[in-house]
Amino acid sequence: MIEAKPNAQDVINALELVAHVEGGYFRRTYQSDHRASVETSTGPRYLLTSIFYLLTEQSPVGQFHFNQSDILHYFHLGDAIEYSLIHADGSLQTLVMGSDILAEQLLQLHVPGGIWKASRLLNGPHGFGLISEAVSPGFDFADMEMADRRKLTAQSPQHRALIEKLTRDEG
Ligand code: GUN
Repeated sequence: MIEAKPNAQDVINALELVAHVEGGYFRRTYQSDHRASVETSTGPRYLLTSIFYLLTEQSPVGQFHFNQSDILHYFHLGDAIEYSLIHADGSLQTLVMGSDILAEQLLQLHVPGGIWKASRLLNGPHGFGLISEAVSPGFDFADMEMADRRKLTAQSPQHRALIEKLTRDEG
């Protein structure tokens, strides 16, 4: 049997993904309903949640945002994805997730809570990159802040060009 090579729309359809506010597409695949919730400073949360997350040529950027929780990322399929992390001290870390482990691309990436994260699809033959994320304590919109371009630039002016590329222009 010849396996057809999926395109971005095939992946969206097959995994029933919807648009994410950060950019890209997602679907929650798991939340720990059967376990006691975890108390956090912002309220009770699931112990763990998980999503599929997809970037495509049409929606290639997961914009800078801040999460309270730790997030584990697992690369599945497609082209490599570049992660830009701005730490509390203003330092920038750039990492690439992808399947080319001999070129030091990462299959797993741990992003600790309390930092700014953005992601960007790199050029490649597939036109999409698919990962999963596991979030603990579980994801809640109350724990996530989308970056305001002006505020984040004022906080980290040395990263102005990158922040412009990886945030929305809200005018
Ligand atoms: N980012 C990481 N996990 C989630 C989730 O469960 N929902 C949403 N909307 N975004 C996420």
